[in-house]
Order: sequence, then structure tokens, then C-alpha cells
Amino acid sequence: MKRKMMKAMTAVLLTAALSIGLVGCGSTKPAEQAEPETESSDEEGGGEEERTGRIGISMPTQSSQRWIIEGNEMKNQLEAMGYTVDLQYGEDLVEHQVNQIENMLTKEIDVLIVGAIDSGAMTDIVKKVKDSGALVIAYDRLLMNTENVDYYATFDSIRIGELQGGYIVDKLGLEEGKGPFNIELFAGSLDDNNTALYWEGAMNKLTPYIDNGMLVVKSGQTDMNQCATLRWDGAEAQKRMDNILSSAYSDGSHVDAVLAPYDGISIGVLSSLKAIGYGSEDMPFPIITGQDAEIPSIKSILAGEQKQTVFVNVKNLASVAVTMADQYLSGEEVEVNMVDYYDNGVKKVSGMAIDATSLDIENAVDELVGAGYYTEEEIME
Ligand code: GAL
Repeated sequence: MKRKMMKAMTAVLLTAALSIGLVGCGSTKPAEQAEPETESSDEEGGGEEERTGRIGISMPTQSSQRWIIEGNEMKNQLEAMGYTVDLQYGEDLVEHQVNQIENMLTKEIDVLIVGAIDSGAMTDIVKKVKDSGALVIAYDRLLMNTENVDYYATFDSIRIGELQGGYIVDKLGLEEGKGPFNIELFAGSLDDNNTALYWEGAMNKLTPYIDNGMLVVKSGQTDMNQCATLRWDGAEAQKRMDNILSSAYSDGSHVDAVLAPYDGISIGVLSSLKAIGYGSEDMPFPIITGQDAEIPSIKSILAGEQKQTVFVNVKNLASVAVTMADQYLSGEEVEVNMVDYYDNGVKKVSGMAIDATSLDIENAVDELVGAGYYTEEEIME
């Protein structure tokens, strides 16, 4: 039901798409709106408004390229508008992230944009942030079990899972009645709210074929909790795949598909497969999905190893969060396309959801270079 509503809303709203491909169907204001700190400097910037205000950006880690791209993108955009930005990375240590935000508070931030390491572990710190009077924007990962989140900037996560599951269905020819095929399933980190949404989307596509026997999970591990990968760590995924291969595939049967929700996991799974000889004519690589269009994965796709990734244009997501912060600090209404929608256990958070694109060997270079996301040299070198 929710899903249908969302689709319908998105369809209606597409007509009002903004330049970066977003839509805005509603706007809400947080209860305590700060005094806008806007001033104009007509002499400089050709009549453009020069803003003031301090924004803290707390990102989860630099171990995945995407957060570096979007952290820098937000910082550059906001600084170009005149804001002061404090960008920090928690390096996947919750305590570290909390301390960094504490530190931002001593410098009196007006807005916090936070991509949580652990979606549920931020309740105390975001309460402090709200108590200080700042706006809280959850970035990519929702802040769970707290009232103290104003907006959510996100991709349409269920749709991302559907792109991954749907790719496997397509490439194996399941709709044409081909099969049975062996598949293994990987999920993300259980402390990340997106994990269940990606899983839901992927399983929407895969479950009918698991149920009718055309997809066989030889490990027997079909529960999200069994398939999870703490902190999205590729080495963890590699270990789990090693175990699966030695326990369920030692009879020589072939893995035909692997659902992987994120490129780091896909690369870990590939290492495990390569170690036992996959990648030859007799043992072709399975259909392996992914997400984030990281350079190692794009190279892997072009080499015929990983088969797909979902391109979440994080520069666009960065622009969403920048616009939210800027609208708020300029005293404008904050635009959202999902009103009171994302249930975090305590409230339904309003947000802006943007779409993602499935990439494989056919379209990866064109899409990524076309979007100005990477240069051809970065991908090809
Ligand atoms: C998720 C995010 C994914 C991927 C993953 C690993 O929260 O939605 O796109 O980046 O983290 O960092």
C-alpha cells in the first residue's frame, strides 16, 4: 500500500522535476525554525545572496568512496553559498562519530547533516543537537527511534533492491521459464535502516522463483539476519562466501547468481569465487549485483566479473541535503516529496527520495561519464 502511494506520488510529481531530477510535492517547516541568518552582498557574486550559518556534516566512513564524494560535494556547495562547514568522518566507530558531533556542538552549528554509522545509536546525541536549536537532517541512513530528526534525504531504497533482484531475474531468463539456478543471498549491515529496504525490494523480485524452485539457495540461508554483513564489510562477505562454497558447493555445483546489495560486498564475494577457480570457461562468474558504482566495481563490470551495480548519484543526494539546509537557513519552506512517510519507530519523518539507475557492461560508461560522475580516464585507467 505504502509502496503504491509512493509510486503514484512520484508519478504525479515527475512533472515538477527540478534540475537535478528531484521532485517536490510538499513542504514542511520544523517546529523551531532558527532565525534565518541571511545577508546579501550585491557587490560580490553578481547580485547573488551570500549566506551565513554553520553546518556540521557527519559522514560514516572514508573506507567507501561514495561518502568522500558526497561529503566533499556538500562542503563545496555550501561553502560556495557562503556557509561555514565542518565535515567529519566517523570511520565506522560509533563513539568516534558521537564525539565528533559533540565537538561540532561546541562550535554552535545551525544544521547537522548526518549519515549515521549505526542508525539506532544516535538518539542521545541528536537530542543534544536539537536541544541546542539546530536542524537535524538524516542523510542516506534514517535516524531511528528518535523524535529529533527533522528531514531525511534518501534514495528510493526499496526500488534499489528491486533493481538488483530484477536484474538477476532478467539475466537468468526466469520469466521465460529457464532454471533451476543456484543463488546465494547477501544483505547489508543490520544497524543500517536501508538494509531491510534493499532486502525487501530484492526479495519482491526473487521470492516467487525461490518459492517455485527455479532459484535454489543451496546454503539454505534465506533469512535476512543470516545473510547480513556487519558494516557492509567486503572482508566479512568474503568469509561468509568462503564458508558457503565449502559447505554447500563442494559437490562441484555452480553458483549462478549472488544478490549483493553493495559493491564492497560484491568485490568480497568475487574474491572468494576467484580463489576456487571461478572466472574460467568452465566456471563462469555468477550474476553478481551491487550498488554505489564504485570505481573497482565499474572496472570489474567492464572486465565481465561483477555484472551489475546500482548507480546512486550521490552528488544529487548531496544537493538534496544542501538545498534542505539552505532553504531552512534562508527561512524558506523545506521541500520534500515524501510527507510524514519514513517510520523511524517514534515518528514518521518527511523527506526527499530520489531515484537510482541500474548499470551493467552495456550502459555503465555512458551513464557515469554522461552524468559527469567520473571521467572516462578514471574508469578506464
Ligand atoms: C548504505 C547505503 C549504501 C551503501 C552502504 C555501504 O547505507 O545506502 O548505498 O553505501 O551503506 O556504505
